[in-house]
Amino acid sequence: MAKELFELELLGGATERRYRKQRPEVEEMPWGTIDIDGFDPAVLLAARKAWTGAAFQEHRTGIACALALKALMEARAPLDLVAQATRFPLDELVHVELTSRMAMELGGATEIIHDPDRLVVKPLEGVDPLLRAGDLVVRFFCVGEALSIPMLRGAWKHAEHPLPKAVLGRIVRDEAAHGTFGWTFLDWALPHYSESDLAVLARSADETIERVLHNWEEIRSRPRKTHPQIHALGWMESDDYLELANRSLERNVIRPLLRRGIPIQSKPLAKAGRLYETDAAVGLFASNDPPSP
Ligand SMILES: [Fe+2]
Ligand SMILES: [Fe+2]
Repeated sequence: MAKELFELELLGGATERRYRKQRPEVEEMPWGTIDIDGFDPAVLLAARKAWTGAAFQEHRTGIACALALKALMEARAPLDLVAQATRFPLDELVHVELTSRMAMELGGATEIIHDPDRLVVKPLEGVDPLLRAGDLVVRFFCVGEALSIPMLRGAWKHAEHPLPKAVLGRIVRDEAAHGTFGWTFLDWALPHYSESDLAVLARSADETIERVLHNWEEIRSRPRKTHPQIHALGWMESDDYLELANRSLERNVIRPLLRRGIPIQSKPLAKAGRLYETDAAVGLFASNDPPSP
């Protein structure tokens, strides 16, 4: 298993200028406006970790989007639908840059060691291309993106300082299209799936939801670190976070899947008999988490 430091660079020159022209919003953020001297060092360190973690998650989501895009093309999904999805990897790259630069503004990124070969689930093998695409779309979009978007919106609403507010606002705007994509795909693809295909898709969703619930349990078990400066840097307190996360799971993931006849078993936390009262304060992207291997 290769363990490598999560680090990225820009090539610069004409290549960077072309990229900046494509996505001018990155340079339009109010960079350089946070006075870090005003913050408790422990809060700053936690915020640097949260934003570095967010950059890593955006990087994983970019890979997930690229993988789903390849599968959609192989499945010969409708051209205009696939065309919508071609924008997503670039959006995620922009989010990687925005979140990394947020960490830099707060004093620098923190260390993340990762295995580049194990960033997202592997596509199903030995199945029809349409089912292979459906599995990835259900995991990455109908669960992953559909769940992370209300959480990002929540973090954006809570952010007090203009810089994290602008960065989160930009991300939330891009993510709106990512959130609806999975459902548009399913509404087109559903008539092509058999009962057993639907059972496979239900398992894909259940597995992904189970991982999300596991992450939340982990968040719930962390020690309380409530601090009055938490909101300034774009955090939500964990009680708010988990309540919103659980509501979003039911409304934006479980119900729409069931409505489309995908026989998932998953339940929101409270209905699954798990508690979700918590003492912990959580980083802003704690569940912006595409399925891990
Ligand atoms: Fe993103
Ligand atoms: Fe996204």
